[in-house]
Amino acid sequence: MAKLKIAVLISGRGSNLQALIDNFGPAVANSPIEIVLVLSNRPDAFGLTRAARAGIATTIVDHKAFADRTSFDAAMDQEIRAHGAELVVLAGFLRLLTDGFIAGWHDRLVNIHPALLPAFKGLKTHARALEAGVRFHGCTVHFVRPEMDTGPIIAQAAVPVRPEDDENSLGGRVLAAEHRLFPLALRLIAEGKVTVEGERAVIHDAAFAGSALFNPLGA
Ligand code: GRF
Repeated sequence: MAKLKIAVLISGRGSNLQALIDNFGPAVANSPIEIVLVLSNRPDAFGLTRAARAGIATTIVDHKAFADRTSFDAAMDQEIRAHGAELVVLAGFLRLLTDGFIAGWHDRLVNIHPALLPAFKGLKTHARALEAGVRFHGCTVHFVRPEMDTGPIIAQAAVPVRPEDDENSLGGRVLAAEHRLFPLALRLIAEGKVTVEGERAVIHDAAFAGSALFNPLGA
């Protein structure tokens, strides 16, 4: 089967990118995915070093060099298409994309968000989850729509919120879940097991039969 070609967009440390490299990078035999490009809007993003080390093509499209978001997005789009990517993966990419860019990658643009959407859209998700007193928190991989942190949900991972948690401990637990969830979700897409029906993503894989989770953690 032909590998799904993906471009990964980052802005920073790239720990999710690393999880993708570990699962689908050049050193992995029989990967269903080829990472054809890692694009960063920030020249100092550590993720660029991770990609270069793995032998993956990198490029910097610095948003500061553009007069507006439309021209910035057009420059990114051109790079992504020039590398032959079929799917665009946002892995800690911290710029809002224009509606035009998003429309050009309809159902071929995915994001990972550090909360169980539709709860806690936006930033500071771990602090807000603690403040709300939720018992489960987690992460979501979803197709991107123009409204921030919306779009068909492909996969979610839940983690317990512990009574002694602070933002760091909870954030670390969620990040570890992200590193497992993102490769899983992308693998399902690469294997053709994800369709969008209406505005819901449907997984066509018998292995994903559900069971309930309960969180009675005491102090
Ligand atoms: C992750 O928490 C991701 O969910 C969010 O940005 C963070 C990126 O972290 N979108 P990293 O750069 O992958 O380490």
